[in-house]
Amino acid sequence: MKTIIEPFKIKSVEQIYFTNKSQRIEIIKKAHYNPFLIKADDVIIDLLTDSGTSAMSSAQWAGIMIGDESYAGSNSFFRFEKTVSEITGMPIVIPTHQGRASEKILFSIIGGKGKYIISNTLFDTTRANVEASGAEGVDILCAEGKIPSMIAPFKGNIDTNALEKFIKEKGAENIPLCIITVTNNSGGGQPVSMQNIKESSIICKKYGIPMFIDACRFAENCYFIKKREKGYENISVREIAKEMFSYADGSTMSAKKDAFANIGGFITLKNEELATKCRNLLIITEGFPTYGGLAGRDLEAIAIGLNEVLDENYLQYRIRSTEYLSEKLVAAGVPVMQPSGGHAVYIDAKAMLPHITVDNYPGQSLVAALYIEGGIRGVEIGSLMFGKYDKNGKLIPAMMELVRLAIPRRVYTQSHIDYVAEVIIEVSKNREKIKGLEITYEAEALRHFTAKLKEVSS
Ligand code: F0G
Repeated sequence: MKTIIEPFKIKSVEQIYFTNKSQRIEIIKKAHYNPFLIKADDVIIDLLTDSGTSAMSSAQWAGIMIGDESYAGSNSFFRFEKTVSEITGMPIVIPTHQGRASEKILFSIIGGKGKYIISNTLFDTTRANVEASGAEGVDILCAEGKIPSMIAPFKGNIDTNALEKFIKEKGAENIPLCIITVTNNSGGGQPVSMQNIKESSIICKKYGIPMFIDACRFAENCYFIKKREKGYENISVREIAKEMFSYADGSTMSAKKDAFANIGGFITLKNEELATKCRNLLIITEGFPTYGGLAGRDLEAIAIGLNEVLDENYLQYRIRSTEYLSEKLVAAGVPVMQPSGGHAVYIDAKAMLPHITVDNYPGQSLVAALYIEGGIRGVEIGSLMFGKYDKNGKLIPAMMELVRLAIPRRVYTQSHIDYVAEVIIEVSKNREKIKGLEITYEAEALRHFTAKLKEVSS
């Protein structure tokens, strides 16, 4: 088999600025060991997120020029609505400015005190919006999804036995929604199988609970289904997506991921009554229902991107390029979440840095080390992001201590990725020297974005 090449040519480029190691030691210290506080120009390879960082295609840029900026009834909205409806099979499409705006609207309406929102794993903003409504977020991930080193095809699956048990225990009347995140971002970018989505929907229907899909990376998930699930080998990703959405009552989406857009999102629904409530809240918080916080040009870029992402040459390259980085790290003995996820490689920081205890944040310590060694910016998905405190102020750690290296879509070439692997392997060789961190400032919610840390003195 020949090398799977980037399925695009580069028409326009952005300069990378280089720094040296001693400059980076100062930069990270000044940024309080928090990658969110580093200036983008001080980063060589930016793997902080795959969200809003995609390279748009020439077709998307052309779409930007024909965006219809009418306040109401814009042409761009109707093209956007038609595309989303065609792909998801859902009749109601409500634009929002990004994924968390969709979540805020949905959970403000259906959430509330005493309620439970069930998921395979809620993403951080999703959980925060669930909790902001007063409801409790409950992650019911399958057992294999909790073991980073275990190889299994669908580690993003919800544990359907535990799901039914939970519903019986808490009462269906207290569970307004089950939302399945595809792929499971906080759980290593792992896919969810069609069978699992179908079974979950049967259970939810039995108890009258609506089932939604957090569809940020729906195309990547569908490609994994095609490659890994029996019976889907010869079905197009577009058809697989349609089947997947057919089991759901609605979806929330961040178009900053699998729509290759720099901004945008939407809610899809089947229920007109819920849609009316969502639209009314949308008008207060986002904008009129035919633009929802976006410019007409953004709606064009999203509509075009949603069709581009279903190109299977692209998806083959996309999934392979993540796997390529993962394979290099595995070969060098770096502990990574296995198998590699769709949009990112997740390093198991707990396994890599056993000398750093969870309350000294091994994930964040590794993030700092990668930046210092090679100017690579990743993000901790561990106890800084998801940790809580008990009544005595003791840290309740997250399920895993991961460092996510998210790969922006269509942005970096194979040599960029080779460089990333070299840096990580170098850091791994000197891992005993990496020091733990302690928090000097933290906000109440989503603390990882603004937290300040310092190196522990020992
Ligand atoms: N759901 C999932 C699974 C996500 O990964 C994200 C964003 C959102 C919802 C919220 O979407 O950013 O448009 O408001 N994830 C980004 C990330 C931020 O880096 O993984 P948003």
